[in-house]
Amino acid sequence: MAVLGLVMVKDNAMVELLKWYVDAGVDCVLDNSPCNRLIDKTAPRRPAQTTYYPKAITKVKKKASTPELFSREASFQTASEAADNAASLDELKAAISRFEGCPLKFIAKNLVFGSGAVSPDLMIIGEAPGAEEDRQGIPFVGPAGQLLDKMLNAIDLTRDLVYVTNILPWRPPGNRPPTDTEISACLPFIKRHIVLVRPKILLMLGGTSAKTLLGTTEGIMRLRGKWKNYNSEEIGAPIAARALLHPAFLLRQPEQKRETWLDLLEIRAKLQSLR
Ligand code: URA
Repeated sequence: MAVLGLVMVKDNAMVELLKWYVDAGVDCVLDNSPCNRLIDKTAPRRPAQTTYYPKAITKVKKKASTPELFSREASFQTASEAADNAASLDELKAAISRFEGCPLKFIAKNLVFGSGAVSPDLMIIGEAPGAEEDRQGIPFVGPAGQLLDKMLNAIDLTRDLVYVTNILPWRPPGNRPPTDTEISACLPFIKRHIVLVRPKILLMLGGTSAKTLLGTTEGIMRLRGKWKNYNSEEIGAPIAARALLHPAFLLRQPEQKRETWLDLLEIRAKLQSLR
């Protein structure tokens, strides 16, 4: 998206307006003056030559003939082969950064891979990076991440004791929910990520994570509050999996924290039983 026309705005208001644009996913300037392409038929279809093109957009055009950009099946196939060949987290990260079957890659600032303990009891999987995660390339470092830290502290855990990642490694613009196509393209990577981390318990934050990993269409309100199994052919034995309301949702609806607290207590009890 482009920032179109920022004129006659006082200093503070300008900063606030820019922040608002960035939060909404508008993160590059395409032209100096606004142009309504819906009304002005003579408007150039592309910005003038002096225009700055972010590398990402140039790359999308150059890679337009890459087959995986056109077919969901081809994207999935390419991702599956790349994921299966990754024998370590470093190799998986390298494979994801080479993958071009998910167009989000070309508009994200950074690949947000994962971070945390090497052999954790608990692996936490969110939905997709937000603005701050995209900026830093680290999962859950924005407001939702700060609440996640508090939730972990409440059950005697810290971020360095768990492993955290997301279903999607790139930020959807404006924090919109991931599409089915994006999820399907990246699914082999998160599955391999789980195999390589091999946690004792999986914590799925929010509906997208829970539905994707459990392969169900049931909503988060039905999925939370009970133990489920995550099955992986490579791992063999099922992994105990728990769906939790997403911390971003809890920030918007703090009255739901009570239910989540009960879930957290059960997770703590389960972790203690495994030690
Ligand atoms: N929300 C997520 O699902 N993941 C992040 O990394 C940040 C916010």
